[in-house]
Amino acid sequence: MKVLKAALVGAGNRGQIYCDYSMDSEEKELEIVAVVDPFKVALEQASEKYGVKKENGFSDLDEFIAKKIECDFVVDATMDEQHYETAMKLINAGYNLILEKPITGNKDELLAIERAAKEKGVKILVCHVLRYAPFYRTIKNVINEGKIGKIISMEMNEHVGKYHFLDSYVRGKWNSEARCGSGFLLAKCCHDTDLICWLNGESAPEKVSSFGSRSLFVSKNAPEGATEYCYNCPHTKTCMYSAQKTHLEQDLMAFQTWRDMGKPVETVTKEEKEEWLKHNTYGKCAYNSGGDIVDRQSVSVEFENGSIATLTMVGGCSKAGRWIHLVGTEGEIEGFVEEKKFRLIRFHWDDGKYEESEETIDISKLIVDKGKYGGHGGGDYALMYDAVRFFAGEGESASITKLDDSINGHLIVYAAEESRKTGKIVEIEK
Ligand SMILES: NC(=O)c1ccc[n+]([C@@H]2O[C@H](COP(=O)([O-])OP(=O)(O)OC[C@H]3O[C@@H](n4cnc5c(N)ncnc54)[C@H](O)[C@@H]3O)[C@@H](O)[C@H]2O)c1
Repeated sequence: MKVLKAALVGAGNRGQIYCDYSMDSEEKELEIVAVVDPFKVALEQASEKYGVKKENGFSDLDEFIAKKIECDFVVDATMDEQHYETAMKLINAGYNLILEKPITGNKDELLAIERAAKEKGVKILVCHVLRYAPFYRTIKNVINEGKIGKIISMEMNEHVGKYHFLDSYVRGKWNSEARCGSGFLLAKCCHDTDLICWLNGESAPEKVSSFGSRSLFVSKNAPEGATEYCYNCPHTKTCMYSAQKTHLEQDLMAFQTWRDMGKPVETVTKEEKEEWLKHNTYGKCAYNSGGDIVDRQSVSVEFENGSIATLTMVGGCSKAGRWIHLVGTEGEIEGFVEEKKFRLIRFHWDDGKYEESEETIDISKLIVDKGKYGGHGGGDYALMYDAVRFFAGEGESASITKLDDSINGHLIVYAAEESRKTGKIVEIEK
């Protein structure tokens, strides 16, 4: 296969995971030829890692576009609220994209991106990494082979672990829908609404209802006398959510917490961390963090063919993970992603006698686990493997998620948020 050329726009956590494929694939398949990021540390770090020429490192997207650098695709891994602006500029400049989810935060922008991509004839893949994870990919194959018949019901949940939830959604960069453009459902579970649509491929979502609230991480639950920041709080030694404990004693989520300090994370000293937590969002009281997103939400969906789906997400759980239970006309599938296996139950009516068979399908050996790719059940590496082949014109895997494929999953999220806020059932327009 020829070596493809790509540019990275947004050289943060996700962007570098995808572009590391240029160094980690079995054979050289990808070369990163340009990096764009206004954050100097990220720009320098990524440019050096990928061996990008100095003149092809940009702090401004317009400068990159003006230079008309030839690329097979651009990875747009900027933050949620920047996707619309950056994607539209790149589409209008004629670049194919690997675009991070969520595509954008509202329906008008979503459809504008879809229209612009069609007009310009550019190809866009959306990073729904779970479609590539062997767990879901194998489930999709089992459904396609007709082993559970037609889907009647889909139950799913996602539990977000305490420290991930605190760092990202209570204190961190996704803690406010107003600032980030994404609520909890869009930022965390647009993967799950996408899976609901992909696995139930025969029919389109029609009606959505949703409940949810922010009820745990609110001021009234703060212990008496709690201060604005944890460092001088009288409860810092006993509070389950103390930032001093998570960030100084355990240093969990270091890559995110210390990232904006203006120097490589590994060079930040303990004293600098202590100072940072005295005034930065990551040091705030979890009950008074200024965030506005929900900490629990349920979503119900009815499809045109009458099949139904429910999704429950909860933030701040003891154990992080995703669970799925599908009921079909001829069988069922049930399992936890993290267990790397699922149960397949099949119904048989042989000679007028009803029987069930059960097998456990182990997918652990299908995961390419190269440390950083272990996340998302092996989906990160598999996404890049499939995407490179897609842009090289070598065919489409079943997991390939083009912009159009991701629209319904996003529409479910927008409808669910409308339902949660208005208390009404929302119909998805065709
Ligand atoms: N697919 C997944 O499973 C998954 C998982 C986590 C996050 N995400 C999504 O990935 C995206 C990136 O998240 P992250 O954690 O890597 O964020 P990040 O903050 O680590 O990286 C974003 C980078 O974009 C840069 N940037 C800002 N404005 C820019 C511009 N105009 N042009 C170029 N670069 C710009 C920032 O300086 C930063 O370095 C988000 O949309 C997030 O929701 C997806």
